[in-house]
Amino acid sequence: MEWVRVAAFSSSANLGPGFDALAVALDAFYDIVEARIEYDARGVIVDRVEGVYAREVPAKGNTAAAAAWRLLQLLRIKDVGVVLRVRKGIPPGKGLGSSGASAAAAVVAVSRLLRVNPPTELLLEAAGYGEQMASGTPHYDNVAASLLGGLVIVAEVEGRLAASNIKVDATFVVGVPMVEMPEGKTGVMRKVLPPRVELGRAVANWQRLALLVASMIRGDYQLAGKLMMGDEIVEPARAPYIPCYREVRSAALEAGAFGVAISGAGPSMIALVSPGAAREVASAINQAYSECGLEAIVRVARVAGPTTIVASK
Ligand code: HSE
Repeated sequence: MEWVRVAAFSSSANLGPGFDALAVALDAFYDIVEARIEYDARGVIVDRVEGVYAREVPAKGNTAAAAAWRLLQLLRIKDVGVVLRVRKGIPPGKGLGSSGASAAAAVVAVSRLLRVNPPTELLLEAAGYGEQMASGTPHYDNVAASLLGGLVIVAEVEGRLAASNIKVDATFVVGVPMVEMPEGKTGVMRKVLPPRVELGRAVANWQRLALLVASMIRGDYQLAGKLMMGDEIVEPARAPYIPCYREVRSAALEAGAFGVAISGAGPSMIALVSPGAAREVASAINQAYSECGLEAIVRVARVAGPTTIVASK
C-alpha cells in the first residue's frame, strides 16, 4: 500500500503590525501527517491523532481532514478515499499555527499520493479551509508560512489569494505559556479587535509593516524588532488577554531582544533576537513566566523551510 509522510513547521503570524498579512515559519515545533489513498472508499477520515499534543486537538475536529477534503473537491476528485494519521508536535491553541501546519501537511501529502502538482494558491486555499474550520474565520497567514517556509506575505488580489515567501536568516525565541484558553480562541481574540480604525493609525501600521518586511530582507533586525512593537491596532486590543504580557515583554527586551510581539492570536509571545543573545533572552522569558506563576515552554527557533515529504512508500 502506498503512503506518504509529510512534516510541517509551526509559525508565528502578524509579527506586530502585519495582522493577517505576515507570518514566519519557525523550526521550534512540527507536525507530521501520514496519508494513504483507499481506492475502494470515499471521503477523508483521520484514523489516529497521536503525539504529545494529541489530546489537545480541539473537539471541532482535525484541520488536516477538512483541508484534504477541500483539496479533493477543488481538484474535482470524487472516486478515492483518503486516510490520515496526524502526529501533533505543535501545541494547539497557542498561537503557533498548529492547525495551519496540520492542514498544510495534509494537502501536500494528498497531492503527492495523487501525483498532482496544484498551484500554490490552490494548496493554500485548501489548507486555509482547514484552518477556517478550526478558528471560524478565514486567514491564510499561518498556513502560508507552514506551506511555503520563510517569511511569508499573503494578500487577496482581485478576489484571489496571493502569497510570497522570502528567505530570511533570523533567530527568534518563542514563549508558550501553559494556560487554558477558551475554545475557539482565535475567533474570541478576533472579536476583541476594533471594527473600525482611524486613518492615522492605519497609516502608521502599514508604513511599519512595509518597513518591517524591507528590514527583514536587509537583515536589519534591530530596526525590524522596533517595528514589530509598532502595532497600534491589534496588539493593544489583545494585550490585556495575554497572560504575563508585560512581564515577558520587559524581560525579553532587558535581556537584549530586538523586539517582542504576541505570536498570532496568542497566548504565546515571540521575540526577535541576535543569535548571541538567544539563550539569555530565552532564560529571561522563562523566568518571567515562572515569577508570574505560569509554566511555559520557551524555545529558540530559526526560520523554517516549507512543508516537506519526509518518507514515502
Ligand atoms: N492573523 C491571525 C490573528 C493569526 O492574529 O488572528 C491567528 O493565528
